Amino acid sequence: MVARRIREATPIIPTRSGRAPWTLRRRLVVAMVAMLALVSLVIGVVSVAILSANLMDGLDDQLGNAAQRSSDVVGGRPGATDFTTTTPTASDVLNRPGQAPGTLALVYDGISVSAGYIDDSGTVVALSDDQVTQLVTELDSAVQQDGTSAPFSVNLGGDVGEYRVLAATAPRTGELYLIGLPVSSVTQTATQLAVIIGLVSLAGIIVVVFLATAIVRLALRPLQRVTETATRVSELPLDRGDVLLVDRVPAADTDPRTEVGRVGSALNRMLDHVDLALETRQASERKVRQFVADASHELRTPLASIRGYSELTRRSGQDLPPDTIHAIGRIESESVRMTGLVEDLLLLARLDEGRELEHEPVDLTRLLVDVVSDAHAAGRDHTWDLDLPEEPVLAAGDGPRLHQVFANLLANARVHTDPGTRVEVALAAEGDRAVVTITDNGPGIPENLRATLFERFARGDSSRFRGTGGSTGLGLAIVQAVVAAHHGEVTVDSRPGRTSFRVALPLA
Ligand SMILES: Nc1ncnc2c1ncn2[C@@H]1O[C@H](COP(=O)(O)OP(=O)(O)OP(=O)(O)O)[C@@H](O)[C@H]1O
Ligand SMILES: [Mg+2]
Repeated sequence: MVARRIREATPIIPTRSGRAPWTLRRRLVVAMVAMLALVSLVIGVVSVAILSANLMDGLDDQLGNAAQRSSDVVGGRPGATDFTTTTPTASDVLNRPGQAPGTLALVYDGISVSAGYIDDSGTVVALSDDQVTQLVTELDSAVQQDGTSAPFSVNLGGDVGEYRVLAATAPRTGELYLIGLPVSSVTQTATQLAVIIGLVSLAGIIVVVFLATAIVRLALRPLQRVTETATRVSELPLDRGDVLLVDRVPAADTDPRTEVGRVGSALNRMLDHVDLALETRQASERKVRQFVADASHELRTPLASIRGYSELTRRSGQDLPPDTIHAIGRIESESVRMTGLVEDLLLLARLDEGRELEHEPVDLTRLLVDVVSDAHAAGRDHTWDLDLPEEPVLAAGDGPRLHQVFANLLANARVHTDPGTRVEVALAAEGDRAVVTITDNGPGIPENLRATLFERFARGDSSRFRGTGGSTGLGLAIVQAVVAAHHGEVTVDSRPGRTSFRVALPLA
């Protein structure tokens, strides 16, 4: 009972519903991968930021050089085209030798604006009106008092894209001009670096997933062995019989210098304790069983004497007063009952000891015929039905003990039901089992008794014999013990109006 309660309270496989919790292995692998991903991300972001900043500085330097080349044109330096009569245009600036493809220029003399950029094929393409307006607006806000500006970024959209631009004023003529270089080279390089870092990190993460899984699995293998030992022990039926608790965690997994080793050695110590406790329990159980067996055995002889003497006195004492005759009759009947009780206790104690029963073929067909006819003789006001198969059914077992099993079940069907009850006894061979069912249409087994029906001294309040002391509550305990000793099983299904006991025994 206690053992059953423990098993119910701590199931080996938790039955809690919901998402399954993460295993330690998965948690460790995920943590490692997450850390690697975070480190890669930080390295990537910092590298790309530093590279972009450096490239941007380089671009600003190139921008300064381009502005220098342009100022020669716009300022009408010697050696350049003479712009004293005509105003230079963006094309004049861009056609200067040394201007890289992509360079953008805008020249503004206060009245007219010209703007364009060199495309990939080296020709100058004019900017659209919107782009020119945008540039002039940006220029206005960026140019300082001295007519120059620091490099700044402007996005012109469309095919042109983002530009880094610088504004300046021609020293002699005072025209405002602007020179720009595309930022795309910087972003391209930065993007390339980001992609390379991303791909390398991804490859690293994949390798780490496999390596970490393997390493963690290897590291947790000792824990697996400890768990296996614990599981094997938990599956042993420790609540009954002689138990040999020999399973231990292997010595290699009990090194107290490791975490798993500490768990392993703690488990082994616990198993030693449990083993000792079990041994003590078994020893004390054995002692009690021995005592019950000895006491029952010792009681048989004095009980037989009491019964003999009382019978003798009753037979020979015709001239005794009626009171004395009645008393002697009671002594005799009680000693008969007590003999039965002592026999039952002795049988149970011997079965508990695991004493081997006979294992011979027992003809259940004949045995049931005998038992039912005995029951019929004892219970004339019940209807007895016997349903037997054509072929005899032989079970492997101990004849007298099996006789007792069915006699007990039929006695119950007779004693615990009302007169007129129909009792059906059926025998059949099912697979490798002989199955006997005893069914009555009596009042059924009381609800409060069903859970403990097969326990010793469990009996119903309504037992008709209770008052006279005819019922001990050992009948079904003996049925259970004998059937179990035969490696069979007995089950019951009872409700008001139908009670059915089913005994399955191995066939001979
Ligand atoms: N066929 C049945 N119909 C109704 N109740 C039953 C039936 N069989 C058993 N019971 C109930 O189960 C109880 C336990 O039965 P069990 O055979 O173990 O003891 P008992 O018959 O009371 O005493 P004993 O058999 O030792 O003389 C009975 O007291 C009775 O209340
Ligand atoms: Mg009984």
